[in-house]
Amino acid sequence: MRHWKPAKDYLEHAAEALRQGQLVGMPTETVYGLAGNAHSAEVVASIFSAKGRPTFDPLIVHALDTEAAFAMAAEVPEAARQLAERFWPGPLTLVLPRKPDMPDLLSAGLSTMALRVPAHPVARQLLATCGLPLAAPSANRFGHISPTCAEHVIEELGDVERIAGVLDAGPCTLGVESTVVGFPEPGRIVVYRLGGLPLEELREMVDGVEWVEVRDAEDDPELAKRGEQSPGMLARHYAPGKPLHLLSADAMPPSAEEPTGWLLYDHGQRDRFSHLSGPVEILSPGGNLNEAATRLFACMRSLDAANIRRIVAWRVPDEGLGRAINDRLSRAAISTDGLG
Ligand code: TXA
Ligand code: MG
Repeated sequence: MRHWKPAKDYLEHAAEALRQGQLVGMPTETVYGLAGNAHSAEVVASIFSAKGRPTFDPLIVHALDTEAAFAMAAEVPEAARQLAERFWPGPLTLVLPRKPDMPDLLSAGLSTMALRVPAHPVARQLLATCGLPLAAPSANRFGHISPTCAEHVIEELGDVERIAGVLDAGPCTLGVESTVVGFPEPGRIVVYRLGGLPLEELREMVDGVEWVEVRDAEDDPELAKRGEQSPGMLARHYAPGKPLHLLSADAMPPSAEEPTGWLLYDHGQRDRFSHLSGPVEILSPGGNLNEAATRLFACMRSLDAANIRRIVAWRVPDEGLGRAINDRLSRAAISTDGLG
């Protein structure tokens, strides 16, 4: 995999690789994606195999603008139009009925597909230069920690031949994946994944609808019928190689019977737990949830690489981006609220 540092012609190289059916590591404002031509079933299949991703977990297709995105949908409900108008380009993914000419595998055989117009300037330039809609899941091996800089993409997927290179645009500014919502029936909006656009902001935009958050990894025919299950929302995901234990925000640290790395929220917590031994990462010294989101995956990676046996983390305040952070932490964890 080439490591493309910003240069005059680097977008041209990446766009040409995409037109030839290769894959490219693409920076977005949320996380780095592994991008390929969404029109080609063969390319889409190669994305699943590069990540080792099960084919029941559908991908997100990225487009340059709302018009190009909606052109891939069979139908666009009014609420989706309102949300797109307000939040695109940005960290929001809309699940809409798909047109039959898009590859089945893209949406794991579902009748819907996920669409997003990213805000990151390099993602936008790449979409404009290659002229293709780009299927792009996060550029990590399936189930692992998502990449928030080009080096992470190389760490995760550096040995995959099909990937021509990664466009280095520095660290992502948001740090958690997009919020995913769908419209299975009038008057109801389903949240398939908490993410970089806080629900509080979304809710303000659409009146008179019921918001439903999906439940995880349940195989309930009633929920499935109402479109309230997300095929990709697995209980364990975003996971480091070392066991991560997640504690409630006010829990005291456990005794360090084995070498432990600590993932703290802010300086206040650090002061209260001054006796911790072993490596410590602080998500946001000043207690800012946006900063914490930006640093979450990099901090998890750094503790995972440290000479320890386990990671202990605490939940962050459950509001705004904190909800997405707690969601990622609980999926990364092998235990929550105890060390059982
Ligand atoms: O921020 C992001 O969304 C990043 C960047 C690269 O854009 N992409 C990303 O893709 O996170 P991925 O593949 O890691 O996550 C896609 C999510 C999964 O949770 C998947 O289940 C959900 O979107 N999804 C995709 N299509 C869906 C559909 N038709 N119905 C319900 N959920 C869907
Ligand atoms: Mg992912």
